[in-house]
Amino acid sequence: MGDRVRSEAIGVQIGRNLALEIVRVTEAAALTAGRWMGRGDKEAADQAAVDAMRQVLNTVAMDGVVVIGEGEKDAAPMLYLGERLGSATEPRVDIAVDPIDGTRLCALGQPNSIATVAIAERGALFESPHVMYMEKIAVGPEAADAIDIEDTVANNLQRIAGAKRRAVPDLTVIMLDRPRHEGLIAEVRAAGARLRLITDGDVAGAVMTAMPGTGVDVLLGIGGAPEAVVAACGLRCLGGAMQCRLWPRNDDERAAVREHAIDTKRVLHAADLAGGDDVFFAATGITDGELLRGVHYFGDGATTQSLVMRSRSGTVRKIDATHRLSKLAVLAGAGLDPTTD
Ligand code: FBP
Repeated sequence: MGDRVRSEAIGVQIGRNLALEIVRVTEAAALTAGRWMGRGDKEAADQAAVDAMRQVLNTVAMDGVVVIGEGEKDAAPMLYLGERLGSATEPRVDIAVDPIDGTRLCALGQPNSIATVAIAERGALFESPHVMYMEKIAVGPEAADAIDIEDTVANNLQRIAGAKRRAVPDLTVIMLDRPRHEGLIAEVRAAGARLRLITDGDVAGAVMTAMPGTGVDVLLGIGGAPEAVVAACGLRCLGGAMQCRLWPRNDDERAAVREHAIDTKRVLHAADLAGGDDVFFAATGITDGELLRGVHYFGDGATTQSLVMRSRSGTVRKIDATHRLSKLAVLAGAGLDPTTD
């Protein structure tokens, strides 16, 4: 579809903030997944979140197609690519889902496990069916012009520090703790920045770089390609920046790169990963973390905290909600009853 037709289609809905609707999706996923916190069963947590997301996404007035799911790389339960969701009415949109970013964090009760969904115009989200990982660098708005994934870690940190009017030792880098990052970890340490190694959750890590008060300045390292697109949606809303490069992980992916003539040197900016004029992002905390508070249950209820954002307006909302679980179960039907596991 041409750009003009596409923006006319979404323009029909110009006053509508879909993020305020998809936050109900991430809340439902967090409420169901939250029951599995610390129980050591990441598949069950993921399945609960997927089922809740599918059910509530289907209530949204849109013609949506899932183009970013995160299940393929490890055969996790998923909202499958190409799945049509919503009421099949305008607007026509792409959907990126990460029912749980940090399934293991949820299963172990560790911080910053979140449920996220992002939506953009049809055709606007970057699809990478052949390569499952990307190299990433992400920062908040102050340092948006300071990053260059083709430059050294030391130079990037120098420029980020300058943009933030700080010294490099005052910067905190967040990175997935993986053997593949041995060299990168050494570079960050040699540059003198502080380093926070996380076991999982680089969507939250990337978004944290652009959220005041998290204490995180820059995300570095290789993580999931689907997660890069979801994070790019969040950063577009927050005015942060992200640069990525596809990172084929094995011989099969390297063969696919050759067969499909995929350019792994191309630098993908946030707007390449999440294009279009209007990007919507919602995330709800599952476990307590610096980005969002997790789900807390009490008697017949639970509280959630969500981040709800739209790129066109730049409005960033944090929504604290109290849910009455028995009432929701009646409203939504037995399949969404978050009080049962
Ligand atoms: P899941 O919760 O889907 O398992 O993803 C967690 C995560 O840590 C992502 O945040 C990250 O992008 C990806 O896994 C990294 O992959 P890997 O664990 O294979 O290094």
